[in-house]
Amino acid sequence: MAGDRLVSKTRRIESIPLHLLKQGKVHLLPVYCMAKLSRLGSELVLNQGSAEYQDLVYLNQPQGRFVIGKIFDKYLLNFPTARGCRSRLAATQETLERLVASSPAKNTVILDVGCGYARGLIGITETINSRKNGKVSVYGLDLDETAVETASVRAKEKGLANLTFVVGDALEPGDYPVHSADIVVLNGVAQYLPYDQRMRLYHNIHSLLNENGYLLTDYFCNWAKNPIQKWWKGISEQFLGVRLDWLDKGEVEEMFSKLPFRNVTTWYSHDDLCLMVLAEK
Ligand SMILES: C[S@@+](CC[C@H](N)C(=O)[O-])C[C@H]1O[C@@H](n2cnc3c(N)ncnc32)[C@H](O)[C@@H]1O
Repeated sequence: MAGDRLVSKTRRIESIPLHLLKQGKVHLLPVYCMAKLSRLGSELVLNQGSAEYQDLVYLNQPQGRFVIGKIFDKYLLNFPTARGCRSRLAATQETLERLVASSPAKNTVILDVGCGYARGLIGITETINSRKNGKVSVYGLDLDETAVETASVRAKEKGLANLTFVVGDALEPGDYPVHSADIVVLNGVAQYLPYDQRMRLYHNIHSLLNENGYLLTDYFCNWAKNPIQKWWKGISEQFLGVRLDWLDKGEVEEMFSKLPFRNVTTWYSHDDLCLMVLAEK
């Protein structure tokens, strides 16, 4: 089942209210109910790490039931994780634009692995097409069929003929829509994988890249700084089953030093919340 292979879908608990009751954590039930009133909170509780969740974060418009739902939605949209995702999107777009502008390829092939609804990819393709400072063929891959369908419809509505989306598993190179690329984007996926699988994915991407091609990826930093944020992080880890390998900048760089990439550059996106990685083949 595709759902089992969605690496970013970390929730392991079937019924959160039942789990809270069984654990004697009745005091957390109001938090759960409040989350369910908010549009982002509901998606977070049901499908943490989904393409839909990600797109709501990018849309950044509070939605929810009643005034309280909208207020809580606004709170969640302003959370470090949400802000970090938006700054990652901006950093990705800036970097892609720069890489395409300086690419020696006549037609730069870009593959986004785990592209979700591809809001950023569609935006940057539009920009590149309109500036005519580089020709691109852009591909997106995601295991979520709804995400691929939505991304395809959005690209079609914008008349982007050089964008193709396919359903496939990031961990199965045979599923990829292209077998050579100049740039691979991998955002919001690798961190959810256990170390061995993550390294295998990086290796697979390295093999697929053309000589001097780039992997542009992210690694989310430990965002919980103050006691309230630490409390929220604890809640999500406990109740959603989120088990992330939180690495700092030095550890991410060390991980990349074990890979066959060269010229690995890391930098924090705006807000210092998300570590960006650019690695050359
Ligand atoms: C957190 S979202 C990030 C979406 C997008 N990369 C972005 O930065 O906006 C993670 C995405 O990875 C997709 N995904 C998770 N596991 C996957 C897998 N095994 N193969 C392909 N896509 C996967 C999810 O469906 C989701 O769209």
